[in-house]
Amino acid sequence: QGYFTYDPGFVSTASCTSKITFIDGKNGVLLYRGYPIDQLATKCDYLQVCYLLFKGELPTKEQYQEFVHRVKHHTLVHTQMESLFQAFRRDSHPMAVLCGVAGALSAFYHDKLDIYDPEHRELTAVRLIAKMPTLAAMSYKYSIGHPFVYPRNELSYTANFLHMMFSTPCEEYKVNPIVEKALDRIFTLHADHEQNASTSSVRLAGSSGANPYACIAAGVASLWGPAHGGANEACLRMLEEIGSVDRIPEYIARAKDKNDPFRLFGFGHRVYKTFDPRAIVMRDTCHEVLDALHIDNNPLLKIATELEKIALNDEYFISRHLYPNVDFYSGIILNAIGIPTSMFTVIFALARTIGWITHWNEMHTNEDFRIGRPRQVYTGKEKRDVKPFRSRN
Ligand code: CMC
Repeated sequence: QGYFTYDPGFVSTASCTSKITFIDGKNGVLLYRGYPIDQLATKCDYLQVCYLLFKGELPTKEQYQEFVHRVKHHTLVHTQMESLFQAFRRDSHPMAVLCGVAGALSAFYHDKLDIYDPEHRELTAVRLIAKMPTLAAMSYKYSIGHPFVYPRNELSYTANFLHMMFSTPCEEYKVNPIVEKALDRIFTLHADHEQNASTSSVRLAGSSGANPYACIAAGVASLWGPAHGGANEACLRMLEEIGSVDRIPEYIARAKDKNDPFRLFGFGHRVYKTFDPRAIVMRDTCHEVLDALHIDNNPLLKIATELEKIALNDEYFISRHLYPNVDFYSGIILNAIGIPTSMFTVIFALARTIGWITHWNEMHTNEDFRIGRPRQVYTGKEKRDVKPFRSRN
């Protein structure tokens, strides 16, 4: 005892050094490899951002074409994966399914994988970027009892995901460019966020030398909780439950009541003590999408806008620096473009996979890399002797 500091929730402990993502929570700054998130979200597509995160620099035109070509040629999953899906209950939550099937990739890519070879690590990243949309869409198709739809490589990354989600053998889904752009932006906004719970889970699992696909399953599991990635689904369900602007004060009062476990989903952040910069881009995108799709008077947006206004003027939220986070507006956009609520966190997982695998890759290249092994402060019984079974009553 006494050789280490006690830091519940790792509020002030850095677990590694990293060159990937910078956050200044006081001033609401988020940079991927030095580039501000709002610029990346508006000037680059998601695959450029994936390239940037993994390789460290934005791609040239030639590098981009080569990368896109590579990703597109890994979009199929082994046909035996289809049988794996059939083993799940139809009403399983798609995150439960994704957790299982992402981990199952390790069974297909293990024996010939050398995690100490940079080329193998890069191939793992490419495979994951390519296959996660396929698995995500399959988890949705399975949940609604529709046949799986195979990827189409002539489509963009995001259009292909929409195609696999919404095309049927009877009808090809026509991808709306506004929807495609908005979803692509959502992917970028979720791509990385330094040492959050799921990324730390992936790093910790990977620190033992475990199979990277199994580590990604650890990330999916960690992301699912409503305090983390599950907040986007929880936030939309909360807005639906509030139902009308006049019921907002009731929910604000519940969020402030220490005897009520209810929290305002989409509000507050461990690191940001001001507006989450991702939320600002998300709010603008939300307005753009609803305008472009001619969705006037969206009741959820009305409730969200009013809720934000009331909370930002309330002493409880002001004194605790609780501001809207990335998940406050993402659900409204996803809902407006036809994504079912149970798929929201799956979309977060799909987008965050590049962050997870980039951190896993960086960890294996860092000179100070060691197996992760946190200590504890023991608060249990002192040493005592075992009584023979016959004399215990
Ligand atoms: N509603 C009501 N009160 C809140 C909320 C909220 N959403 N968030 C924090 N608080 C209060 C909390 O009760 C505490 O009050 P007090 O000091 O009186 O005990 C104070 O604010 C500090 O909260 P904390 O729980 O110590 O903060 P944390 O850093 O441990 O938790 C959080 C951060 C994100 C888990 C939390 O703010 C939360 O549960 N928010 C709602 C869920 C959510 O939207 N999560 C998505 C995060 S962004 C996406 C991602 O990166 O995963």
